[in-house]
Amino acid sequence: MGNAIEARGLTVELGGRKILRGLDFTVPAGQVTGLLGPSGCGKTTLLRCVVGVQQISVGSAQVLGVPAGSASLRSKVGYVTQAPSVYLDLTVRDNVDFFASVYGVSPSAATRALADVGLSERAGQKVGTLSGGQRTRVSLACALLSAPELLILDEPTVGLDPVLRRDLWVRFHALADAGTTLFVSSHVMDEAGRCSQLLMMREGSLIADDTPDALRAATGTDDLEEAFLRLISAEAPA
Ligand SMILES: Nc1ncnc2c1ncn2[C@@H]1O[C@H](COP(=O)(O)OP(=O)(O)O)[C@@H](O)[C@H]1O
Ligand SMILES: [Mg+2]
Repeated sequence: MGNAIEARGLTVELGGRKILRGLDFTVPAGQVTGLLGPSGCGKTTLLRCVVGVQQISVGSAQVLGVPAGSASLRSKVGYVTQAPSVYLDLTVRDNVDFFASVYGVSPSAATRALADVGLSERAGQKVGTLSGGQRTRVSLACALLSAPELLILDEPTVGLDPVLRRDLWVRFHALADAGTTLFVSSHVMDEAGRCSQLLMMREGSLIADDTPDALRAATGTDDLEEAFLRLISAEAPA
C-alpha cells in the first residue's frame, strides 16, 4: 500500500510566527503512525492541516491522493479533536446513536463502538457529567462509527488510566490490520513504542521519521524518551 498522507514543505505561520517549519513527511497507509512531541511543538496544528481546517502558508499536504481539505475527503477522514466535540446535554448512548444515524450505520455498530471504548456501563449518563477522559472516549466512539479510511486522533489517550490506554492502542492496531490508517498524536513518549511508524517533533520541526526499532538503533538506546533527548542534543550541541 502507498501513503495516506504526503506533506511537502508544510509551513504554517500564525501571528508572524512559524508554527510549522517546512515539514516533509509521509504517513503510510494501513499502519499506526504516531506524532510525538512536547506540548506546544505544533502537533495539533499539523493535524489540522491534514484535516483541512488549518490554512497552509507554504507547501502542501496530499491526503488519500488529493489536497487536504478536498470535499471528497469528508466521508473518508475521521478526526477526533483534543477537546472532545460531543453533545454534553445528551447521554452517551444518544451521542453515538446520533452519529450512527448521520453515518448511516446500525444501532448495533453504536453498541459495539461503545464497548470498544469501554463505555457500555455509562450509556445512560449525560456526557456533561463524565470526566475529560471519558468524554474523549465518547468522541472516539463516534469517530469509529464512520469507519473512515484515515482516522486522525489528537492526543486520544490523555487522562486515561493505563489499562484503558493499552486497550485503546490494541484497538488502534486492530483497525490498522483491517486497513484503516491511523495518525495519532501524543506528548507522552512512552506511547512512541506502540506505533508502527514515528514522527517526532520539536518546536515546529521534525527531528525523526522512522520505526521505533530503527530509532532505537540510530540513537543507541531502547528508551524512546531517551532517544528523543539524544536526537535533540545531537541537533543542537550545547
Ligand atoms: N491561532 C493561533 N495563533 C497563534 N499561535 C497559535 C495558534 N494556535 C496555536 N498557536 C501556537 O502554535 C504552537 C503550536 O501549537 P499546537 O499545534 O497546539 O501544539 P501542540 O498540539 O503540539 O501542543 C504553540 O506555540 C501555540 O501557542
Ligand atoms: Mg495539541
